[in-house]
Amino acid sequence: MEKLKLFKNGCNKCIRINVDNEEFVIPAEAEFCPGPVESIKHLDYDDKKFDCIIMDPPWPNKSVKRLKTYNTFQIDDLFDLPIETLCQSTETPVIIWLTNNLTVHSSIDQILETWGLQKYAVCHWLKITKTGEPIFPFGSNHKVPFESFIIAFPISEKIEEEKKFMIKNNFCFISTPNSCHSRKPPIIAILEQLIPKMKFDKSLELYGRYLCPRTTTIGFEVLKFQHCFSNFVSNDNYYK
Ligand SMILES: C[S@@+](CC[C@H](N)C(=O)[O-])C[C@H]1O[C@@H](n2cnc3c(N)ncnc32)[C@H](O)[C@@H]1O
Repeated sequence: MEKLKLFKNGCNKCIRINVDNEEFVIPAEAEFCPGPVESIKHLDYDDKKFDCIIMDPPWPNKSVKRLKTYNTFQIDDLFDLPIETLCQSTETPVIIWLTNNLTVHSSIDQILETWGLQKYAVCHWLKITKTGEPIFPFGSNHKVPFESFIIAFPISEKIEEEKKFMIKNNFCFISTPNSCHSRKPPIIAILEQLIPKMKFDKSLELYGRYLCPRTTTIGFEVLKFQHCFSNFVSNDNYYK
């Protein structure tokens, strides 16, 4: 397995970097690795721990395959990832985006068990148009107006009470989606509001395509949405 090469913006402001004559914005204290998620085994060898782990795996998907939007994988590839050992504590939330595919839903319990995690809640992101309508009608057999994610924690003997926060099962937040296929909203900003007692000083995002402050992001397309000209409006006073 290739050694993990991490790049880091060590200062507390956004910076701009130049890669092959193209400019990218790197948020404060963001760390990233443009490479395979399987290399997180090296984070484990280095005994790195995180306050929150988020992942949006490239679940097998007919339209992604047809349109060649990004690389997908075999579900079995997930089992080997050392997720639990990268958790700071048994209070570390692990967020996993799902698709509406039945195979994904039927595999997830086994994946969580292999990782040593227990499911806490399933939550939803309802996608609406600018005028506030769901982007697809509810009840359609073909497309649904929401996406779902699981919140899991490392299995522990501690009583469930300790993990009680404002996210209940079937919690739902609502926003307008980005036009890019499969792009998800940054979830840490929402968790920070809902779990005020928790600190998210050091998060890990797997399969990410954009960077967030104080977050280590690993994936084949980590800089996709950091491109200066296509994703940001320039405000030169803000950068270093
Ligand atoms: C579902 S998309 C993630 C979307 C992202 N959450 C967003 O909001 O834009 C999955 C990403 O994982 C990447 N990918 C696929 N297999 C990978 C692997 N083994 N290691 C790293 N990245 C991988 C794909 O190229 C794609 O960029």
